[in-house]
Amino acid sequence: MKISGGRFLLTGGASLIGSHVAEQLLEAGAGEVVLFDNYALGSPEVAAFLAQDKRVRVVRGDITRLHELLDALDGIDGLFALAGFLTLPLSQNPGLGLDVNVHGMFNIVEACRHRAVKKVVFSSSVATFGDPEADQVDETTPFRWHTAPPALALYASSKIIGENLLRLYKQRYGLDYIALRYSTVYGERQHHRGVNALHIIESYERIKAGERPVIAGDGSEAHDYVYVGDVARANVMAMASEVSGESFLIATGVDSSVNDIVAILLKLTGSPLKPRHRDEPGKVQTTTKAALGFSPAKAKRLLGWEAAVGVEDGIRRLIAWAEGSNRP
Ligand SMILES: NC(=O)c1ccc[n+]([C@@H]2O[C@H](COP(=O)([O-])OP(=O)(O)OC[C@H]3O[C@@H](n4cnc5c(N)ncnc54)[C@H](O)[C@@H]3O)[C@@H](O)[C@H]2O)c1
Repeated sequence: MKISGGRFLLTGGASLIGSHVAEQLLEAGAGEVVLFDNYALGSPEVAAFLAQDKRVRVVRGDITRLHELLDALDGIDGLFALAGFLTLPLSQNPGLGLDVNVHGMFNIVEACRHRAVKKVVFSSSVATFGDPEADQVDETTPFRWHTAPPALALYASSKIIGENLLRLYKQRYGLDYIALRYSTVYGERQHHRGVNALHIIESYERIKAGERPVIAGDGSEAHDYVYVGDVARANVMAMASEVSGESFLIATGVDSSVNDIVAILLKLTGSPLKPRHRDEPGKVQTTTKAALGFSPAKAKRLLGWEAAVGVEDGIRRLIAWAEGSNRP
């Protein structure tokens, strides 16, 4: 689909990732960008700078209400399905979280069918894999949920339902889609809702307050941190691509431990503080593995996407944003 001149709607338009997708759509010449959000988690301020562009329309709407989606989707070519409850908010409010992630996603495919929207790009997650056994994880790796923590398994299953609703609506009604399974996303406009990125912003805030950063356990727990600008670019490329009916792992392929991240933060802030290790019983965790082995090869092969920003550079950008030098 052509981005230039196209009309797009983002559910969860006030999200971390959505605000970057909207920015890149505008840069690529989109004709209209609708930011659809009920601000259950995000806030209008996140998207305020975008609303200054006259091609942007901000709609206060709730994906659990079909009629609000139907109203907003009139004339829309492509939808980015970003609204959702991440593992942490979902574990805090499972009833509402599942309603949004599951029933809300059903409303999206139903509204897209009725409004003849051509393509959906869905924000899925590597959480779908659960606690995979394989050393290298790609789109063919079987899911393993029985050893995964319940919060993660619930979130994962809600994303799998989303992906399968899309498969069903493609099969039945020809609705094109791509599902993007992101690893841990971070960057400018970072929030405190991402279970695996939370420690980045919390450690940064402690360092700025002159307090020692706290690392849970021995800090060997690894994540594949993918910069939000790269994730937004994957969204735009997925919408533009002729490819449909596929899921993609959107990750860097590089694991970094919590210790590595804290060391980067201390280096970039020029802090002499030493991290403190502490056990945090009861903390919601998605993994304790020291290696994840996510392979983004399929995204490179079929979409031409690969991450461009390494973790140190990405954290430098996050810090610059947090310090206000390049806000919003
Ligand atoms: N951040 C990550 O690390 C990550 C990783 C994998 C997948 N994802 C997925 O990507 C998407 C975006 O993530 P994010 O970190 O930018 O999320 P976010 O928490 O910043 O944003 C979610 C947005 O959805 C909105 N929303 C919630 N309920 C809604 C409803 N009923 N109707 C309309 N809007 C509603 C919230 O107000 C919020 O602005 C989510 O679906 C998430 O599950 C994120």
